[in-house]
Amino acid sequence: MDLTIEPSAAAACEKAARIIADLAARAPASVLALPTGRTPLAVYDTLARWQRDGVVDLRRLRSFNLDELVGLPPDDPRSYAAYMVRHWQEPLGVPAAHVHLPQVMASDLGAASAAYEDRIAMAGGLDLALLGIGENGHVAFNEPGTPWNMGTHVCNLADSTRQILRPAFGSLDLVPRQAVTMGMRTILSARHCVLLATGAAKAAIVARALEGPPTEAVPASALRSHPRVTVILDRAAASALETVADEPRRGSAP
Ligand code: GLP
Repeated sequence: MDLTIEPSAAAACEKAARIIADLAARAPASVLALPTGRTPLAVYDTLARWQRDGVVDLRRLRSFNLDELVGLPPDDPRSYAAYMVRHWQEPLGVPAAHVHLPQVMASDLGAASAAYEDRIAMAGGLDLALLGIGENGHVAFNEPGTPWNMGTHVCNLADSTRQILRPAFGSLDLVPRQAVTMGMRTILSARHCVLLATGAAKAAIVARALEGPPTEAVPASALRSHPRVTVILDRAAASALETVADEPRRGSAP
């Protein structure tokens, strides 16, 4: 596991953007698993700036989102499909046909989940998964206790997750109770996993994920078994690590 601790959230996100840009330069049609949420916004903004400046050309990249909320049509601004239009497709000029999300309006979500797995396989699998981490340790929407051998599936959102989502929906009863998420097996099948976490609110869970016992109670701890995982933190998110030095650290963690 390569652990990088950057002095700021901006520097951490730029490091993640650089990894994606370098992959796109080597293999322009690479297949990515992409997250939504707050953390990756600065990654996408940085890539968009580099695209506008002609530093990179990311338009051939193909992506599969880690998850989508059940019952939200793609034109709902709260959907992750709409998030990707705003923060990935339009700023980067990536064709809509290159951006894939689970079908969450289907009557048979189990079949939709299996179809998503098939589309990932037909694309040649995942070259790189950019991952965030929830404060309860979830990766995508694999909530604590989710078996690590699952593929894409329908999941129930934890109460704490729904509370975090509530501001976007106005009231808790309007927050979806389910999502379709890549499973940990899907995520761990990526040839390279990049875990990005910033901010003090993630410090405790990052320490549990990286230094506690690998356990399904902390889904992100599964990443430690991956043959090629890069963890990028800012100092705040690294502040509860036992092994962290005061200075920005780069290199392999113990
Ligand atoms: C969300 C998403 C995850 C994301 C995590 C952290 O629920 N399902 O993919 O990584 O929670 O989000 P944020 O970066 O906003 O803290």
